[in-house]
Amino acid sequence: MTTQPAAVIVLAAGEGTRMKSATPKVLHPLGGRPLVGHALRAAQSTGPGHLVLVLRHQAERVRAALTTDFPEARVALQDEVPGTGRAVQCGLDALPDDLTGTVLVTYGDVPLLSGETLERLTRVHTEGANAMTVLTALLDDPTGYGRVLRDENGVSAIVEQKDATEDQRAVREVNSGVYAFEVTALRTALAGVGRDNAAGEVYLTDVLALIRSAGGRVEALALEDEWEIRGVNDRVQLADLAAEANRRTLRHWMLAGVTIVDPSTTWIDADVTLEPDVTIRPGVQLHGSTRVATGAVVGPDCTLTDVEVGADAVLERTHGSSAVIGAGAQVGPFAYLRPGTRLGADGKIGTFVETKNATIGRGSKVPHLSYVGDATIGEHSNIGAASVFVNYDGVRKAHTTIGDHVRMGSDNMYVAPVTVGDGAYSGAGTVIRKDVPAGALAINVAPQRNMEGWTLSRRPGTPAAEAAQRANEQSSTDRESQS
Ligand code: UD1
Ligand code: CA
Repeated sequence: MTTQPAAVIVLAAGEGTRMKSATPKVLHPLGGRPLVGHALRAAQSTGPGHLVLVLRHQAERVRAALTTDFPEARVALQDEVPGTGRAVQCGLDALPDDLTGTVLVTYGDVPLLSGETLERLTRVHTEGANAMTVLTALLDDPTGYGRVLRDENGVSAIVEQKDATEDQRAVREVNSGVYAFEVTALRTALAGVGRDNAAGEVYLTDVLALIRSAGGRVEALALEDEWEIRGVNDRVQLADLAAEANRRTLRHWMLAGVTIVDPSTTWIDADVTLEPDVTIRPGVQLHGSTRVATGAVVGPDCTLTDVEVGADAVLERTHGSSAVIGAGAQVGPFAYLRPGTRLGADGKIGTFVETKNATIGRGSKVPHLSYVGDATIGEHSNIGAASVFVNYDGVRKAHTTIGDHVRMGSDNMYVAPVTVGDGAYSGAGTVIRKDVPAGALAINVAPQRNMEGWTLSRRPGTPAAEAAQRANEQSSTDRESQS
């Protein structure tokens, strides 16, 4: 028996007023994906014949944010008639008239609902030959949710909190709002649902009575894991669900062989991948499509977005985005890797170093206090402390190329465009304005001049002058005692 639904309809037309945000609720991120991205991912994983997203508020913005990741999703626009039932009607209108089989209804603001649960719901629904199967959960505190009432024929009613009697309110089984339907039974029942309630909305839950009176069976699938059915209405719930999603992600990676020293200060997005024997030290955030290979140690205190970390690399106190770190390389502490940074195997980007659009070859090192922008550095070369790749003249960006086995001095300025050949050296404080041929030593410092007695004559009475005076006296005493 197939467990693939004919269609999944994801409802996301609500305004989300309690978020108090200019951004549509379902585009707020959780674990590096928009809320609705989680819902669509779960829907997609069931392999549905059709995937429909029902939108209304800021529909174009939501659509634009999703088209690359979910090209197969069709958008249905809800009209001005309000309510979950109307939203589903609009979703059904986007599906073929002759569709048969199971239709799932889920929500754009319920991010922890898994694809496996949707598959289970579909299986229970088809195996029971149900017309409607309600996903439910047993809550310690069911306040606010619709209560699920059962009789000998299955689910007899869903009673909303405000309409429930004392006895009904004691029922702990609640309606998640997620359902599987036999599509024809759903279409027929929805056509008979009106708006004669206090809110003037078309309630999806009203189909239950109509399906039952038409002879359809309504059953429930109860979940033990209530997090899966929780929705986001405000930013408090957003933070709660984000924290739980993160705990689940960390647990997944720890069970897959990753050491996470301090889960309470570690955040890992849903699309990050880690290999066994990676170590994550405290205070680390891994975002986007970041990948970390086996044996690498990340942290403490690193924030990496779309960064690829090679095997056995070590990153400490590093902020990086769109960078590639080679196997066995070392980064930090206190490094800033900007987009286009590529560090070769066993290379080093050290302390207080910023890099951007820079390829640093195998075994090459930029150990201290430097800016490397728009540069290609060959293999096994060393860039002295406090060097700047002067890549911008105020109008144009230009590139610096440095060869293999180069030994450049401290405090060098590379005024791009400029090229340094293989095996070249440079003196401290060199401003490299001209190309340096392979094997040459580049120096351009002016001779140093010492003006004796300058401090005593030009800065008399200062602590510096007093210190100089004492040093002079000491050296004449030393000279006398030696003679
Ligand atoms: C609904 C259920 C309730 C259940 C609860 C679970 C009904 C009548 N009640 O109540 O039994 O316990 O969910 O959370 O269905 N939406 C649209 N278009 C609309 C209205 C809503 O797309 O016109 C979407 C919203 O974006 C939202 C979802 O449907 O994500 C739920 O709608 P809401 O009105 O909040 O339903 P509840 O009152 O929470
Ligand atoms: Ca709600």
